Amino acid sequence: MTAKKNLAVFCSGGGSNFKALRERILEKNLPCQIVMCLSNNSQCGAMRYARENGIDAVHLSSKVVPNESELTRRMLDELEKRKVDLILLAGYMKRVPKEVVQKYPKRILNIHPALLPKFGGEGMYGLNVHRAVLEAKEKESGATVHFVTENYDEGEIIVQEKVPVLPSDTPETLAARVLEVEHRIYADALEKTLARLG
Ligand code: GRF
Repeated sequence: MTAKKNLAVFCSGGGSNFKALRERILEKNLPCQIVMCLSNNSQCGAMRYARENGIDAVHLSSKVVPNESELTRRMLDELEKRKVDLILLAGYMKRVPKEVVQKYPKRILNIHPALLPKFGGEGMYGLNVHRAVLEAKEKESGATVHFVTENYDEGEIIVQEKVPVLPSDTPETLAARVLEVEHRIYADALEKTLARLG
């Protein structure tokens, strides 16, 4: 039997995607385990959820470690000591250092709340994305799970799903519709990636 893959989830916010991933892993007894949650915000919902569920909550930010290369080294240490196979970015608001991206090729996944390659890139996060979709009068939006490369939101797409944009939508109502899809497709993308890794 192959060993279970060790996952690290990187978050900055509420952690609803983190929770959805963990629930799918438990529900379907997937061959993996979440061994750490890393965040730049020690008090965010995701970190609370990690602590409540016995998952190592690792706080790393430029406030704690001002030196950039030291921060990268600490991040790599935390990943290496837990033998992390896959990193899942779930609402992580910081750029992943390029040394980490290079060390985990096709092993870092990200979820983006739009139909990439549209509405991606620098500044496209949170409600900004949904505002831009509404301003562009798009008829549909959606969510995308993709591999992380050194350029924002550009890696190979693993799963993508559309949702309609309604005439009555505000950025908030559209975000809520997209988030529901995110929870499902992120777990689907994890299953797909685990199957590929074998
Ligand atoms: C999601 O919309 C995700 O696509 C974006 O940040 C949000 C995170 O939400 N990158 P949560 O912390 O998983 O609830």
